[in-house]
Amino acid sequence: MENKSIALDGPAGAGKSTLSKMASKRFGLIYVDTGALYRCVGLYVLRKGVEPRDEASVKALLPEISPVMKYDDDGVQRMYLGGEDVTEEIRMPEVSSYASDVSALPPVREYLLSQQRRMAEEYDVIMDGRDIGTVIMPKAGLKVFLTAEPEVRARRRYLELREKGIGTTPEKVLEEMAQRDKNDSERDVAPLRAADDAVILDTTNMDLGESFEALCALISGRLGA
Ligand code: DC
Repeated sequence: MENKSIALDGPAGAGKSTLSKMASKRFGLIYVDTGALYRCVGLYVLRKGVEPRDEASVKALLPEISPVMKYDDDGVQRMYLGGEDVTEEIRMPEVSSYASDVSALPPVREYLLSQQRRMAEEYDVIMDGRDIGTVIMPKAGLKVFLTAEPEVRARRRYLELREKGIGTTPEKVLEEMAQRDKNDSERDVAPLRAADDAVILDTTNMDLGESFEALCALISGRLGA
């Protein structure tokens, strides 16, 4: 139900999913991580050994992918491909880059559109992605464009990956992130950009607690929650 819902867009590593999860609990909203859908398509394409920018080949695979989104008892979104739980695997850096490449293909965006719109129509959601305020929920009650300096975002993402035991370096994360942001911002269809009526929230100089309070203030102010 769009006008009570929140659209949260922004570049990689801005803290969208962490803050959305926290806000969903405080305001009783369903958290929808739309990047997970693109990641499922990316993982499937990777496993099939298909080139992620090859539109015709990726398009041919789409009917067999059918990513399924489910929520566990704690309200945590889990992703399934053909019954297999791929929630953790889709977070691998290689899958991030595949997800970004396939997300630039119009048939992929079209394929995932109805699933996202349905969630937005049925529930009060906080939905994060790249085109939520511009394409998926143009009538969202609040649109936030969450961002931070690239070095800060890369540092946060590096620490997150290290915690999961994924070996990488801050420099490598920064490089991959810059490539992905460029890809996501420069594509022709539904590029990453702030909706005209979005509030820009820059968390470069905020820690997690401060970012969360800033987001909550926006939500309370706009939705009267
Ligand atoms: O949010 P994320 O980093 O998990 O998203 C992975 C990729 O999916 C991202 O690089 C671009 C794409 N994506 C998109 O194009 N549109 C969305 N609404 C969400 C993600």
